[in-house]
Amino acid sequence: MERFDRAYFDAPQDRRNTGSIKYGTPPAGAPEDVIPMWVADMDFPTPPAVAAALRRAGERTIFGYTAVDGSHWDTVASWYHRRMGWKTEPDWFSSVPSVLSGVSAAVRTFAAPGEGVVLCQPVYYPFARIISGCGRSLRVVPLRLEGTRYTFDYEAIEKELRRVDCKVFLLCNPHNPVARVWTAEELQRLGELCLKNHVVIVSDEIHADLILDRRRHVPMASVSPEIAQITVTAMAPTKTFNMAGIPAAHLIIPNADMRERVSATCWASGMAGWGVASMMAARAAYGESEPWLEGLLDYLRGSRDLLYEAFPAGSPIACLPVEGTYLAWLDCRGLGLTEEALHDLFLKKAGVWLDDGDMFGKGGQGFMRLNFACQRDTLTEAVRRIKTAAGMN
Ligand SMILES: Cc1ncc(COP(=O)(O)O)c(C=O)c1O
Repeated sequence: MERFDRAYFDAPQDRRNTGSIKYGTPPAGAPEDVIPMWVADMDFPTPPAVAAALRRAGERTIFGYTAVDGSHWDTVASWYHRRMGWKTEPDWFSSVPSVLSGVSAAVRTFAAPGEGVVLCQPVYYPFARIISGCGRSLRVVPLRLEGTRYTFDYEAIEKELRRVDCKVFLLCNPHNPVARVWTAEELQRLGELCLKNHVVIVSDEIHADLILDRRRHVPMASVSPEIAQITVTAMAPTKTFNMAGIPAAHLIIPNADMRERVSATCWASGMAGWGVASMMAARAAYGESEPWLEGLLDYLRGSRDLLYEAFPAGSPIACLPVEGTYLAWLDCRGLGLTEEALHDLFLKKAGVWLDDGDMFGKGGQGFMRLNFACQRDTLTEAVRRIKTAAGMN
């Protein structure tokens, strides 16, 4: 049996000319040998069981419409129960092509055009695009940064939730890009505010399996039966198992009436489920790839520790705690640079291609997001370049 140890994840991979957007054309001014560390996919091979399932799918000669059978959801439900202690029912699940398409359908279902959707920034930037792009009113409440730890600003959130036209709270759990894994207490407090104000929670939990601290992810819908009844959870195996190029996301909606309403929106937008390859790949991921994930998490913990050592708290570039995800949120405010100068320092001077913090909205200025799901040698070289460019040697 293959071992998913350090040597496995250390093995170099050449992703150039594969159609990967991560390795596509970099922004203007990047040097030829720029290291891509931006979009959230990993430079590690997808688990062998997933690749084998896709090969088996490719051996078929007919590729007709495919139903997701109930036993598939049993496999996924068993994953959530085992890893998160969350009990789900097979009929709560539905397949969607991507997490964002599911999030968009849920937002459009529960907030009418012009009605409010609350979002805590800095956050994954497509959320704001979805809300504004479909004509809903974007209500931003900044996260609170206390020392090196982000928290919710409950008073400011409640103020927004109390407005009569506020219909949805869009949660990112764990939170990209600040890498917080929200605790049961934090989620409960937030969930109760939503319950009290009759606001639906749409919880994007795509990073749920990527927990680096030795604790469990808490799904928002697992916090209490009452909160479950107002929550739509969007999940996928795609981040976890590095298969973002395969449509394989799902929604989990315990409330039957809400389920029907979201389903109607999906129909209205002509949204399809999955094809046969998606089903086979998703099943191989959840059903056969847990040892791969455990190996990955160990490797990511080592990489995160390397970043902590290179960019300790209090230095001009400081890596904030990464509780989950493989995205480090670098506090570069100590450099005292403008957004443009910071961008240039990383991209042009250091030759590393990160996401600029201000893309993530309010509170992102002065930060950079670094995707460290790459081979350790690459990360070491990126760190060397950043420290040299910033004069931190
Ligand atoms: C929080 C979050 N949601 C959704 C996505 C994208 O998911 P999908 O490609 O399934 O829409 C990402 C990708 O980085 C993400 O970080």
